[in-house]
Amino acid sequence: TRVAVLISGRGSNMAALMEAARSTDYPARIALVISDKPEAKGLQTAGSYNIATRAIARTAFADKASHEAAISEAIEASGAELVCLAGYMRLLSGSFIHRWRGRIINIHPSLLPSFPGLDTHHRALAAGCRIHGCTVHFVTEGMDEGPIIAQAAVPVLTGDTPESLSARVLEAEHRLYPEALAMVARGAVRMGADGQAIFRD
Ligand code: GRF
Repeated sequence: TRVAVLISGRGSNMAALMEAARSTDYPARIALVISDKPEAKGLQTAGSYNIATRAIARTAFADKASHEAAISEAIEASGAELVCLAGYMRLLSGSFIHRWRGRIINIHPSLLPSFPGLDTHHRALAAGCRIHGCTVHFVTEGMDEGPIIAQAAVPVLTGDTPESLSARVLEAEHRLYPEALAMVARGAVRMGADGQAIFRD
């Protein structure tokens, strides 16, 4: 399965997917990395893996629709059938999500449905959570709301700061995302017509 990865920044989850995809028995190949930020560090990282990259800046387009149309075209041209969001910091419109329905997945740094949105580590600490973690889910129109594919739990330790907690969660993300992408690529899970995750037994 060919995959396009959308990033906006560091790209450490993207790199974790690329590491996994180096193994010959991994069911997905990264065909293209697209960033909406031309200065994203992840673009250089992708280049060092010899993966094709495209910077498609929002500012180069008149509106969101034409920006997303350019992204869709680039994905199609790469032959990718799946789209992985990996720190892509822009909300995708309903029409883009509809176009790629059931074929876009995202990683989010919390155990959804707790803490959708930004600042999850700070909010988990403020709420007194003793367990935190990360989630890979199919992308639907509601932000961080789509059906859950896989989750990993991480303990909250005494004295944790948002930084120390986020570093522990990020390690879990780097293990979880390749596993979840492999599940989708192998057809072990898919998004059903009613927007629920259907797991093959
Ligand atoms: C990760 O924590 C991811 O869960 C969130 O944004 C961060 C991206 O980090 N969506 P990176 O760009 O993958 O290093």
